Amino acid sequence: MVDSQGSTTNTMENMGDSSSFSILQDYGLYGIIAAVIVAIVIPILLSTVLTGKRKLKQRGVPVQVGVEVGLAMRNARSVKLVEVPWEGATTMASLFEQSCKRNSQERFLGTRKVIGKDFVTASDGRKFEKLHLGDYHWETYGEAFNRACNFASGLVNLNHDVDTRVAIFSETRAEWLIAFEGCFRQNITVVTIYAALGDDALVHSLNEAQVPTVICDSKQFKKLAAISSSLKTISNVIYFDDEDTSSGSDVAHDIGNWRISSFSEVEKLGRNNPVLPRLPIKEDIAVIMYTSGSTGLPKGVMITHGNIVATVAAVMTVIPGIGSKDVYLAYLPLAHVLELAAETVMLTAGAAIGYGSALTLTDTSNRIKKGTKGDASMLKPTLMAAVPAILDRVRDGVLKKVDETGGFAKKLFNIAYNRRLVAIRGSWFGAWGLEKLLWDIIIFKKIRSVLGGEIRFMLCGGAPLSGDTQRFINICMGAPIGQGYGLTETCAGAAFSEWDDTSVGRVGPPLPCCYIKLVSWEEGGYTISDKPMARGEVVVGGYSVTAGYLNSDSKTKEVYKVDEEGMRWFYTGDIGRFHPDGCLEIIDRKKDIVKLQHGEYISLGKVEAALASNNYIDNIMVYADPFHNFCVALIVPSHQVLEGWAREAGIKFKDLSELCENPEATNEVQQSLSKTAKAAKLDKFETPTKIKLLAEPWTPESGLVTAALKLKREQLKTRFKDELQKLYQ
Ligand SMILES: *[C@@H]1O[C@H](CO)[C@@H](O)[C@H](O)[C@H]1NC(C)=O
Repeated sequence: MVDSQGSTTNTMENMGDSSSFSILQDYGLYGIIAAVIVAIVIPILLSTVLTGKRKLKQRGVPVQVGVEVGLAMRNARSVKLVEVPWEGATTMASLFEQSCKRNSQERFLGTRKVIGKDFVTASDGRKFEKLHLGDYHWETYGEAFNRACNFASGLVNLNHDVDTRVAIFSETRAEWLIAFEGCFRQNITVVTIYAALGDDALVHSLNEAQVPTVICDSKQFKKLAAISSSLKTISNVIYFDDEDTSSGSDVAHDIGNWRISSFSEVEKLGRNNPVLPRLPIKEDIAVIMYTSGSTGLPKGVMITHGNIVATVAAVMTVIPGIGSKDVYLAYLPLAHVLELAAETVMLTAGAAIGYGSALTLTDTSNRIKKGTKGDASMLKPTLMAAVPAILDRVRDGVLKKVDETGGFAKKLFNIAYNRRLVAIRGSWFGAWGLEKLLWDIIIFKKIRSVLGGEIRFMLCGGAPLSGDTQRFINICMGAPIGQGYGLTETCAGAAFSEWDDTSVGRVGPPLPCCYIKLVSWEEGGYTISDKPMARGEVVVGGYSVTAGYLNSDSKTKEVYKVDEEGMRWFYTGDIGRFHPDGCLEIIDRKKDIVKLQHGEYISLGKVEAALASNNYIDNIMVYADPFHNFCVALIVPSHQVLEGWAREAGIKFKDLSELCENPEATNEVQQSLSKTAKAAKLDKFETPTKIKLLAEPWTPESGLVTAALKLKREQLKTRFKDELQKLYQ
């Protein structure tokens, strides 16, 4: 079958089995074995040698600090906490000014212009807008600085009293940052409000912070106008110019006594009538950030200038080689502390920030017109921030594509993926060897092009990222993920995983701007003397810990403490443990733990996470009454899966709500749930004894989950009080 000319005259037709055979003949079996040894065995051997070494890397080290007994850690790289990115940059205003001077000719803020708009009608009759967006149009650091100064002067000329606050209520865009920095030129505190909050939250925030001037985009302007009668303190509204406002009808009218101006008018006013700056000091409040709490109305967290620059200084040390060559894709809400910190890090580094949105991120994103480019492929960013929900979506998208392609491509993908998985788990050497190059060229290059192909580091935060997704993104995007842990109250800065740490599920050592302490929580069964790792409530102390809640001393005193040296400590309510290398892992939430009648502790979040993998479940809340020794669950079933089961079982039903009332359906889900619980090794008391199926999905609009889709237990408990009571009868 194979003759000696095989290898030299090989053409496409006779490649396949015979070609590999002929290679064998040409080089001989020993040659092949030698090649295999070089390619695979030696890296494995080397990796075992290196792994031993790698494990020793100490990332956090114990230190004696703080008000309370506990186990405190600091970042291993810095004995003294860092407070500023460089000498003299003690406030947002000085940081911005100095960075703009240093980088005045560099690209800073990039925005895409709308070239065309299309409307497509979906099969259900709903209309969708599709955008054709152009290339990025850039402003330099020098230009942005002038705009911020003009805007600041404009505000004063508008008669905004600089001792009162300005609110920004808009989606993320370049002018958001310019307005923000502009306010600091006059030591004005900026109030930020998450655009996804409901009307009640919006009214509460603007009234509580007594905001006279609001800056918004045209979309949020409509929201404001609709609730204008409830807004007591507003006198000035400044809207961002866009094609909706320039064509003009909506925004032009005055509403009540509001004086309405466009952003460009205010800039012009300031340019023509410059005002001397009035710069803040580090203790001044830069931002009052309203966060969507999982209970009740949003709370305004008071963030000082010192807090932000400290977090930024610390994050600068954990992104390898960050500088003016970097390009950052900005699309998360700036009203979220994660994005605000990330963009401030970029401006500190002199990097370019290109703006986009979650709906226009990739070529196949919802709002991108077919055949035109999404933000990532146009910008080709090197750095990006993400929340777990978005990374989960990227992962699902890639897997779906691979599945659809099927056949050989799918097999090859799986082989490549598993080889990379072994390599990454094994060692640094295996993770960067020749084989990686090979798989990158054959498989991953194409996947990476979805995000522009240049990503070298991703920042992730906001919620815990699943280990699976973290690995998947590591491998497919070929970039490390820095997983951050922090809260608005700690100005995003608390812990951050380091780029060369290939483990998953942990959030790294403390950032160099703060200490992290574990404090025993005896009642909950978590103590610092636990083996093999110390466990307890996570308490953060240092320069990133904020000044407390606006108008709520009692709430502030509950969760903040100050030690003898004047350092502030924040009690997060999260439960964590320290790994031997000083890295933190978040394992539970204090609020979500209930002590049952017989003294067992049940962690609702842990049980929910374990059961959520069940196919029948779209959403689940586990509830435990402390006066009983078992738990129950409210479940929103997956529409598709439950109806599919019912059809097969021959059960007649009109719609999902009828099915939810059907005892057989409840029984089926209950049985299936018990199996999942068993597989997840849950204890008997952790397995819901009774369940109630609910047809209505839980959405942020219904107030039952937060904007980040976390359960609002109090609201759920109130809404379904009767159902829960019945489950305990
Ligand atoms: C900045 O503004 C706040 C609030 O109006 C004020 O208390 C503080 O003294 C100001 N800081 C400076 C340096 O003027």
